[in-house]
Amino acid sequence: MADIPFSKSISARLRDGVFVVVIDNPPVNALSADVRSGLMAALDHTASLDAATGIVLTGAGSTFIGGADIKEFGKPPVEPMLPDVIERIETFEKPVVAAVNGAALGGGCEVALACHGRIAGEKASFGLPEVKLGIVPGAGGTQRLPRLVGLVAAIELVGTGRPVKAAEAVTLGLADGVATAPVGAAIALVHEASGKPLRRTGMIGVPSTDPTTVSAAEAKVLARARGQSAPAEAIRLVKAAGELDLRRGLAAERATFLRLRDSSESAALRHVFFAERAAGKVEGLDKASSRRIETVAVVGTGLMGSGIAVAALTSGHSVIALEQSPEAAAGGRARIAETLDKSVRSARFTADGRAECLARLQTTAEAEELVKADLVIEAVFDDLTVKTDLFRKLDGIVRADAILATNTSYLNPDAIAAATADPSRVVGLHFFSPANVMRLVEVVDCVKTAPEVLASALAFVKRLGKLPVVCGVTEGFIGNRIFSAYRREAEFMLEDGALPQEIDAALEAYGFPMGIFAVNDMAGLEIAWARRKRQAATRDPAARYVEIADRLCEAGRLGHKIGRGWYAYPDGKRTIDPEVTAVIEAARAAKNIAPRIFTPAEIMSRLLKAMVDEGTALLTDGIAARPGDIDVVMINGYGFPAHRGGPMFAAEQNKGEPHA
Ligand code: 3HC
Repeated sequence: MADIPFSKSISARLRDGVFVVVIDNPPVNALSADVRSGLMAALDHTASLDAATGIVLTGAGSTFIGGADIKEFGKPPVEPMLPDVIERIETFEKPVVAAVNGAALGGGCEVALACHGRIAGEKASFGLPEVKLGIVPGAGGTQRLPRLVGLVAAIELVGTGRPVKAAEAVTLGLADGVATAPVGAAIALVHEASGKPLRRTGMIGVPSTDPTTVSAAEAKVLARARGQSAPAEAIRLVKAAGELDLRRGLAAERATFLRLRDSSESAALRHVFFAERAAGKVEGLDKASSRRIETVAVVGTGLMGSGIAVAALTSGHSVIALEQSPEAAAGGRARIAETLDKSVRSARFTADGRAECLARLQTTAEAEELVKADLVIEAVFDDLTVKTDLFRKLDGIVRADAILATNTSYLNPDAIAAATADPSRVVGLHFFSPANVMRLVEVVDCVKTAPEVLASALAFVKRLGKLPVVCGVTEGFIGNRIFSAYRREAEFMLEDGALPQEIDAALEAYGFPMGIFAVNDMAGLEIAWARRKRQAATRDPAARYVEIADRLCEAGRLGHKIGRGWYAYPDGKRTIDPEVTAVIEAARAAKNIAPRIFTPAEIMSRLLKAMVDEGTALLTDGIAARPGDIDVVMINGYGFPAHRGGPMFAAEQNKGEPHA
């Protein structure tokens, strides 16, 4: 029997007496108006089709359903609405089973929840990630999920948006089984369910749970919500599922969904969603020209090098880690193994995976071994002479088609590339520490970088599972340049009357996990101090310069690791130190500055203006391609709260009052 089309993206075929309905709406089978109307038509058709015992719903390609079509948000609604389609599935007179072939997210998970059974393929995942978009599930997720998995698991999953893989879905009671061929298994389940009372999720009672356990689960999620409102709203609705009947619960959920969908928090998070996907795309760059990178060499196995090695290993690459001596190479291997162990302990990685990774790792002190590498990433001491000497040496060893990448944070990669005979094969890859955890990588398109080298670097970073943002050559690239600008502004305010704890409190209330002075303490103050000393000779004597940080460094206050910096850390706990206040007051007195009071709003306004001004300069100079790229960098590398959308988005939204 040929496929029957029900809309552009929905078709179905009778197989073993079951109507297999396929959603084919690339790239992620989002629930567009066409998908919704096609599904309704397929349901109507099956209802009157005597030959069909029931329906199996599945997705074409690698996704089941990626959720509601986010691009439709903000546009006039088009019937049928998703909750109506889902209600029709749940109340359908014949069994409907989901064959979840890939990700079932948001509305996709809600469709699966309303089916009378769910078979997960081996690549399936289930998730309600709506809170990550500043909304709550809007088509029954908060009401049906707790009926299957209980309140505690539902609070965690809906409140954080964490997706679960097939095996965990079965353990939780979210899926009925895992199968290599989910459509076949789902057909069998339809036959099994036929003629029996159907298991309608909305009719199941929410299992009763001890209120203390529920409160503990709620507190755990909210502790990580950092000023976002969607997680608390989502949890409220999940808890309501235990108190209200389905109809009332669904009505409360829908009203909250519609209210949050129109909120500035959701607009900001949707901006971030699309900005992250746009980042790393370069107009006119031919992706097809990128070279396949299988073997990666990492030079230097300190904190950064070992983190990069782990990121490359866990994404399936072979890694050669080069050190200066066999002893240092052995130390590097131990560090990499320890980092992998940590990943296993924090459940980011499996023990089997660890062994398999170590089998793909070669550590050596023989530079000639790098002839095997498709890409060499240097992660040695950030000193121009050290790096140029290394690149000169590498140039004579690696294959002609190998790519050379520098992981410098502040040096000029063009100057490093100039040490090679072929600078077109050099690119910057600025990882953030710890490199095996942090998603952001600034991919520096040097003046002479060849397009296929840039394309290869971008493809490599994506294969690492990371987020590439392309930037041009400038001191500090996008992130550190903006960070320097707003640190400068913070220090101006310090001199003018604000205290570090006041500035940090304003940033933390805005949503940063940590204020800038606390961040400086964590990173250590000595690197920036050394840079300031290097730059002293070339600094514009007319430009305002705040000496407070220098005074602290001279007093040996180098940050958290020695227990004293902008704060004191008795027992590791951040504490205001009167000694720091005295240094600040002395600096003000030396310049005859009468301190004044800063409100948190003024502090944020000035810091955000500093970020936006620097961001605008980066755009004007062509260092960053889009405002969204700057937002992505600041959110993923510097703790800017995602629910504010990044500095450029916040400024645009608030027209000059980004803190509002
Ligand atoms: N709506 C519209 N477009 C979407 C989309 C969605 N739900 N999900 C992904 N896309 C687009 C992306 O913007 C991207 O477009 P581009 O190629 O033009 O840049 C393209 O699909 C591919 O996306 P990814 O690059 O993310 O592809 P991956 O294969 O890496 O990941 C995915 C696939 C896991 C499905 C991932 O895209 C994802 O997490 N999507 C969002 C899932 C989500 O948040 N769903 C909830 C939506 S809200 C909702 O359902 C409300 C409901 O409760 C009523």
